[in-house]
Amino acid sequence: MKSTITDRTVDPDVLAYTVGQDPVLDRELAVWDCMGTAAHVTMLANLKGLKRPVVTMREAALVRKELGKIAKQAGKGGFEIRVEDQDVHMAVERLLTEKLGDLGKKIHTGRSRNDQVAVDVRLHMKDSILRAEAEVVELAAALRKFGGRIGAVPLVGRTPLQPAMPSTVEMWATGHAEMALDQLENLEAAYRLADLNPLGSAAGYGVPLPLDRECTTRLLGFARTIHNCFGASMARGECEAALLSALAQLMAVLSRLAEDLILFSMPEFGYFTLPREYCTGSSIMPQKFNPDVLELVRSKAAQVLGLQTAALSLLHAMPGGYNRDLQDCKFLYMQGLEIARTTLRILAKVVSALKVDAQKCRAAFAPGVFATDAALAKVAAGTPWRDAYHEVRDHLERLAAMDPDAAVAAKRHEGATGGIDHEVYAAREAAARKSVAARLGALAAAKKALFK
Ligand code: ARG
Repeated sequence: MKSTITDRTVDPDVLAYTVGQDPVLDRELAVWDCMGTAAHVTMLANLKGLKRPVVTMREAALVRKELGKIAKQAGKGGFEIRVEDQDVHMAVERLLTEKLGDLGKKIHTGRSRNDQVAVDVRLHMKDSILRAEAEVVELAAALRKFGGRIGAVPLVGRTPLQPAMPSTVEMWATGHAEMALDQLENLEAAYRLADLNPLGSAAGYGVPLPLDRECTTRLLGFARTIHNCFGASMARGECEAALLSALAQLMAVLSRLAEDLILFSMPEFGYFTLPREYCTGSSIMPQKFNPDVLELVRSKAAQVLGLQTAALSLLHAMPGGYNRDLQDCKFLYMQGLEIARTTLRILAKVVSALKVDAQKCRAAFAPGVFATDAALAKVAAGTPWRDAYHEVRDHLERLAAMDPDAAVAAKRHEGATGGIDHEVYAAREAAARKSVAARLGALAAAKKALFK
């Protein structure tokens, strides 16, 4: 029995070049590949109107049981893909054929690796996006709790980095939390694109078998089937690019948070301190405690933007139908996810450990920060706004320092320094957690049912 499946004649260097990183990257897809195959085989066993079944119900059950074992092993990291296998799809087929003989050779009936990898990637993506969303929520929660813990410690609000108006640490922290939570919208858009089933499109042009594509959509828990087989093959890469776009935007948000933290923890500002164990030293300057982790967040944001650009560049000139270029999209989106998810986790840790020097924050309030408040006080006494503005601007030297605490407390409208409602964030976090948990649960239930 031949255990390698195709390309027995390929030059070893060509094989190595074309296989690329698949033997490593595809390990992440192993569990999802087993799930997709279990659904495909179940569908094949249920096909009506064939002279003889492709596989019987009993055979399908045998395959599912074996797939369950492979998936379990793969879940523990014990899944090997050989260069001769090329990728996870052939490695699974090899294992099934070693175990089940001819039955293993039947599982690829009516399917191509083109629709197989597309379905694997989408299942993997759905799972990863949900986990990334949960991590966004945890970072937002860490920011909200940090803001709440510090309370309304006044902080100079800045525009073009110049002192502008009285703000608070709480406003700064929950403002960044809100930015992070808003990023869930982009991730959700990417999730909705990933939640479409390409399976059954085969090489991209259908097969002369009465495939029941809605059956695998149901079994795998997809929102719907991608109707057109050619369209299904073209959709590969598009959802990767959409996800990378969401991740690039998320990383830009995280990078701005990192940049604020770098600035505000500089000795010249001294508002925040990073605990020492979150800083790295210098090999020559003994006094150094550098915020390297935050600098790397900035550089990683640039990298993810690069990954997005790489994905779109790879796609934009590609002709319709499957092209091997698409294989390289796998690294791009997996790398983007890895970077974004580790960044979310490290930032949540940093934010939770952040210390605030309230005295330094207060000491930074030069009288100019109160100029707008002073002009508005004149408005309250009847002066038209533009006159009040000029009176203050013409005599900036007369501005007296005001009480920052009173100044921040005086702004009570929605979302202003004295009007921030933590419940707004807590409620959004709770809703997002619930929705993520429900969908992860549904995915796990679909997996469990298929391997039964
Ligand atoms: N590893 C391949 C990929 O990721 C699987 C699909 C191979 N299809 C093909 N026509 N060569 O794209």
